[in-house]
Amino acid sequence: MVQVNDSYLKLKAGYLFPEIARRVKAFSEAHPEARIIRLGIGDVTEPLPAACRAAMTKAIEAMGTREGFHGYGPEQGYPWLREAIARHDFQSRGCEVSAEEIFISDGSKCDSSNILDILGAGNRVAVTDPVYPVYVDSNVMAGRTGDADEGGRYGGLTYLPLTAGNGFVAPLPERPVDLIYLCFPNNPTGAVATREQLKQWVDYALAHDALILFDAAYEAFISDPELPHSIYEIEGARRCAIEFRSFSKNAGFTGTRCAFTVVPRGLSGTTASGERVELWGLWNRRQSTKFNGVSYIVQRGAEAVYSPEGQEQVRALIGFYMENASIIRRELQAAGLQVHGGEQAPYVWIGTPEGMDSWGFFDHLLGNAHVVGTPGSGFGAAGEGYFRLSAFNSRANVEEAMQRIRAL
Ligand code: MLT
Repeated sequence: MVQVNDSYLKLKAGYLFPEIARRVKAFSEAHPEARIIRLGIGDVTEPLPAACRAAMTKAIEAMGTREGFHGYGPEQGYPWLREAIARHDFQSRGCEVSAEEIFISDGSKCDSSNILDILGAGNRVAVTDPVYPVYVDSNVMAGRTGDADEGGRYGGLTYLPLTAGNGFVAPLPERPVDLIYLCFPNNPTGAVATREQLKQWVDYALAHDALILFDAAYEAFISDPELPHSIYEIEGARRCAIEFRSFSKNAGFTGTRCAFTVVPRGLSGTTASGERVELWGLWNRRQSTKFNGVSYIVQRGAEAVYSPEGQEQVRALIGFYMENASIIRRELQAAGLQVHGGEQAPYVWIGTPEGMDSWGFFDHLLGNAHVVGTPGSGFGAAGEGYFRLSAFNSRANVEEAMQRIRAL
C-alpha cells in the first residue's frame, strides 16, 4: 500500500498566497463589477528590461541554427553568467566570491527549500516570526518539525520575534540553534539589517558552528550606501553562510525564472560521525542529480542584466517600484496608519487600525476598497496586527488604491 508523507498533513491550511487568491476569487465572483487592485503577492508588473528581451530574442534565434543550438547546459549554470554575477554582485563590493561558488537556478523559493536536502534532519532550526512561509513549510514537509500549536507555531522550531521594538531585526536566539534563516531586506516587514547587526549574526554562527541561510532576494532595493547587500560583506561569513539571490524582483523575472545560490568553498558541516564535509560538494551533487539547469535563453537574458544598458534599465525599474513604495508610505501615514519598511525594500508593513486583526483588515480593504494586501498573521503569529502591501504594481493602480483606502 502506498504511503503518503504524513508531514504534509501537519501543514496549516493552504500556502498563504493561494489562500489569498481563493478569497479574492470568491469575492470577485460575488462582486463581478468590482475592479480589484492587487498589492498582495510580491509579483512584478512592469515589462522585462529591453536589454534582457534583446538578449533572449538573440538566444532564441541562435537556438534555431545548428551552430547556435544548445541542448542540456551545465547543471550549475553557464560559466559566462556565473562569472558576470561573481564580478558585478560580489567582487565589485569587495566580497570574495568566485564563479564556481555560484549555482544558477530557477528561483530562490526552490533553492531555499531544496537546500534542506543536504542538511541533516537533527539540525535545530531558527526562523523569524513573521517569516517568508517557505522556510517554515519546507521544514514541515521534510519532517523536521513537530505539530503546529493553535497559534500556528511548529514544535521543534525556534521562533525569533520581529517587533517594532527590535526594529524587525531578529534577536539572537536564547538557546543554541544550528540553522538560521535570515532575509534582508526583509520579506514581509521591509526592514533592513545594518553591518553591525549582520556581524552579530555571523559572530554567533561562527561561535556555535551554525549555518546562516541568507535570503538576499531584495538586495537591489537597498539605496543607503551604508547598508550591506550581501552577507559576504561581513568578515567570516564565507565560513558560516549560504546566500540566495534572484533576478525575479530586480529584473522582473518572476515569470521568466532565474536565480542563484552562493555556496562558498570551504564552508562545511559535520557528519553523524563528526567529520567535516564541504557543503559545496554536496550542493553540486544535489543539483547535478535533481536539476537540469535553467534554459540557455533565460540565462542569456539574466546575463544582460549586467550589461551597461541592463544595469541602467534595472535601476529605473527599482526606482519606479520604490517611488510606489514611497507613495504608499506617505498616503497611509496621512491616513493615520502606523507604517514601517518600504524605504529600502518593496514591502510596506502596516499596523492594522485599532480593533481590527490582520484578516479583519484584509476583508475590510477587499470589501470596501477592493484592494488586496497580505495579512501579517499569514507570515506568523507575531505578524498579527500587521498587514503587508507590496509596491509592485503600476503607478496608476498604486495611486488609485491609496485614494480608495484614504476615502474609507
Ligand atoms: C511574496 O509576496 O512574499 C513573494 O512574492 C514571495 C515569493 O517571491 O515567492
